[in-house]
Parts: sequence; C-alpha cells; structure tokens
Amino acid sequence: MFQIVSIFVIIAVVYIANSWRSASGLGSVWQTISSEWQATWRDILSIGSGKLRRDPAALKQFCKRLGWFSFGLLAITGFLPVIFLGQHLSGYPLLIHMFAAPVLLVTATLYLVMSARSNELSESDWQDLSPPQKDAAASSTLQLFESPAWRKIWYWVAVILFIPAIVSIALGMYDMFGTEGQEMVLTVHGYTTLALTALAILLGAAVLRKREIVKS
Ligand code: HEM
Repeated sequence: MFQIVSIFVIIAVVYIANSWRSASGLGSVWQTISSEWQATWRDILSIGSGKLRRDPAALKQFCKRLGWFSFGLLAITGFLPVIFLGQHLSGYPLLIHMFAAPVLLVTATLYLVMSARSNELSESDWQDLSPPQKDAAASSTLQLFESPAWRKIWYWVAVILFIPAIVSIALGMYDMFGTEGQEMVLTVHGYTTLALTALAILLGAAVLRKREIVKS
C-alpha cells in the first residue's frame, strides 16, 4: 500500500511542479542546484574560519542549503527502494540514509528554530490567506506556494510533520512495541516523510521558478 501511495503522490507533485516550469519556459534546474551545492561546499570548507559562528544570517543560509541537500539524499535513499523494489530500506541505501539523518536533524532543527519568528502569522497574513484567484496569471496551485502568507502556513506544516517523522524512527530503534508496533512506527515515518517530500518538491519548484524569473 505504501509503495502505491508513494508512486501516486510523487508522480502527482512532480507533474504539478513541472506544469509551473513549462508554463514559463525557464532555464535549467540543475544549474541552480549545482550553484547551490558549490556555495554549500564553500561554507563547509570555511567552517574552521568561524564565519558561521560570527554571522547568524550566514549560518541560517548554510543550514537551509545543507538541510535541503541532506533532505534530498534521505528522500532518494528512502523512497527509491520502496517505489522500485517495494522493499523496506536496507543495505547501502540505509547506510547513506543513516549518514544523512543527523545532518538533517541538526541543520533542519537550527533552521526551523532560527526562522520561527519570521514565520509568525500577523493579522494581515490571515487576511491574505484567501483561496487562489481563478483569473490570476499564476495557476491556483502555484499561488498557494508563492504567496508569503501561505509560505508561513507551509513552514508550520513542515514543523508539524518533521516532529513525528523523526520521533517515529527514533522510537522504532528501541524494541518497545514488538513487531506490529515496529511496522506502525515505520508506517508513520513513511507517510510523514512522504508528505514532507511532496511539500519540499512543490516549495522547491516555486522557489526555483521565482529565482529563474528574476534571473531572466
Ligand atoms: C533524522 C532523520 C531520519 C532518520 C534517523 C531515518 C531513519 C530511517 C530508518 C532507520 C529507516 C528504516 C527503517 C526500517 O526499515 O526498519 C528509514 C526508512 C525510511 N525513511 Fe527515514 N530517516 C530519517 C529521515 C527521513 C526523511 C527526511 C525521509 C524523506 C524525506 C525519510 C524517508 C524514509 C523512507 C521512505 C523509508 C522507508 C519506509 C518503509 O520502508 O516503509 N527518512 N528511515
């Protein structure tokens, strides 16, 4: 069941994200991803210089970038075996998964805490949370991921999903619940991370689209 739902959800969000891209005929996503990786790698190499310790904005940007890359690695190693083999995670994919996990845990927690205040919803945000306009230039789904007020909502949705995604797998590491309980916590981990992955694909596509429009 988890395999079928994962295939359906990931195809659906990639289709929606791609419809935003083709609508505006934009440049290559890969170029943006590789320039982001180069910036992240430069920051990793400069950790010893203390720059990130002195500059909270640089630290926040670094956590955001490294968080995205470790999340990507976790989603790829987590979902490929499930989608293509219908099997639970094991072997090298599990090894890479467990390597990327603490990186995500630290960078995502730091980033979510450092951005909590800027994602507080103000009175005007609640008023802006109107349903998407039919006649607007951007597609209705895109409006939900471009509007600053909705972006704050997705931030809190990510926080709410992140906690059970991590707590479930942490509990799954202790044999407290027996076999059925293990299956249950793994199912919670699977479905919460599927929802996080869907959100990440749509938010990522909206951010990349905006960035490329600015560039062009
Ligand atoms: C701190 C973060 C994480 C840790 C410690 C972690 C750990 C694990 C472990 C140990 C498993 C294998 C469980 C088993 O088969 O018994 C697993 C499975 C999985 N993880 Fe993660 N994971 C983390 C984050 C993520 C994230 C962010 C994603 C997706 C974006 C993800 C997606 C998956 C998927 C799809 C599976 C397979 C579930 C299944 O077979 O039903 N994980 N994870």
